[in-house]
Amino acid sequence: VNRFKMAVRSSSISVAVAPMLTKLQQDCATPLPVLRNVADSMSADIRAGLAVDGGSDLKMILSYVDRLPTGNENGLFYALDLGGTNFRVLRVQLGGKDERVIATESEQVSIPQELMSATSEELFDFIASVLANFAQKGGNFHLPPGRKGEIGFTFSFPVKQTSIDSGILIKWTKGFSVSGTAGKDVVACLNEAMDRKGIDMRVSALVNDTVATLAGARYWDDDVMVAVILGTGTNACYVERMDAIPKLQGDFPPSGRTIVNLEWGAYRKGLPLTVFDRDMDAASINPGEQIFEKTISGMYLGEIARRALLYMAEEGSLFGTSVPEKLSMPFVLGTPDLSAMQQDTTDDLQTVGSVLYDVAGVESTLNSRKIVLEVCDTIVKRAGRLAGAGIVGILQKIEEDTKGVIFGKRTVVAMDGGLYERYSQYRRYLKESVAELLGPETSKNIVIEHSKDGSGIGAALLAATNSNLIPGITA
Ligand code: GLC
Repeated sequence: VNRFKMAVRSSSISVAVAPMLTKLQQDCATPLPVLRNVADSMSADIRAGLAVDGGSDLKMILSYVDRLPTGNENGLFYALDLGGTNFRVLRVQLGGKDERVIATESEQVSIPQELMSATSEELFDFIASVLANFAQKGGNFHLPPGRKGEIGFTFSFPVKQTSIDSGILIKWTKGFSVSGTAGKDVVACLNEAMDRKGIDMRVSALVNDTVATLAGARYWDDDVMVAVILGTGTNACYVERMDAIPKLQGDFPPSGRTIVNLEWGAYRKGLPLTVFDRDMDAASINPGEQIFEKTISGMYLGEIARRALLYMAEEGSLFGTSVPEKLSMPFVLGTPDLSAMQQDTTDDLQTVGSVLYDVAGVESTLNSRKIVLEVCDTIVKRAGRLAGAGIVGILQKIEEDTKGVIFGKRTVVAMDGGLYERYSQYRRYLKESVAELLGPETSKNIVIEHSKDGSGIGAALLAATNSNLIPGITA
């Protein structure tokens, strides 16, 4: 705030912008009562979603993962990972308790923009051909002769699971609008594409990226109870007692546990939103949906900032009398650009200047750069703090049911996703929010830990746990 005051004194441009920035900061403010309300509403929504399907903004999807990795998993497994900007295929050689993960080989391709609005066949043919290519090339590890390859398929969209190895796509999120997949079993879609490409493998586990991350982290650490993805999109899952899930029918052991996928991107209650959020939502391909995701995840933070800056340029001459044309292009400013600017420590904010110029064709003065940084910080602070409140909402729900089981001992929240991994200010705001909400005593026990690439290994582990080709290896 002080830095900002100095800036306005020395520039007439900034004087017009000052009230706009103040308004933005007010609209994005997340004082403790706002965070508390979000955490409490998240807990309540979790409960409502567990009670009955459709009972809440949160789908609380049953993952059918009720056996977590033990360390005994053994053999060669594949993992496919589709869900954001990239598609990955992995081959993981597991060596049981002693050797654990012997080797991982992987390949990654970015998803061509046009595939995101292609047909279902085109998308799955693309996946199958990358897999075919990877499998053909081979690696240092091989399946025993005659044994089929088994796949853990991480498909990071809302899927109504019908078993561990099947599930129906409810809808696309994160800018995907592929036609003909919603309402279909995505494993069947993949199987058909593999048939077309002549690949003879089978999907043993279909999982969300949060679920794969939880499994991957739990493999190393029994205290992992929650997993959160903060990347292109955002979501969370946790380990729940089966008898605490009213909508779960059937027989289960009294001590049974399962992973539940919140699909928390769809959460919406009590969020401090601005006109820029509302306009971005209205212009999106899924208006009115995924509001939490649109407020806190990587696909959107740059765009919210761009909209705020464009407004300040048009109405407050932030960048002088003319408005840089490129700044009017939706999504021209990415969240990685915000992060790059916020890491700038030079006196004249050179990086901020060059990012603005390279990305949006903006010529900036030192004063306007300072304001740009304030805008980035405001958007990122809100996002990180709200994500923290969401995490506390989950922990609180588990604590209410188990009294002391969570808050009284070490509990790990496994984090992954490019936004969390690569935006240090975001991480800091998230952790601050968790600490503020839980207080110093309780937050000492809560470990928020980056689980690097837990999801790749996690999917392979779940393919192993659910393998029906090699009975008995995982018990
Ligand atoms: C979106 C998807 C969800 C996924 C998350 C993170 O919210 O709907 O399934 O887990 O992004 O990738």
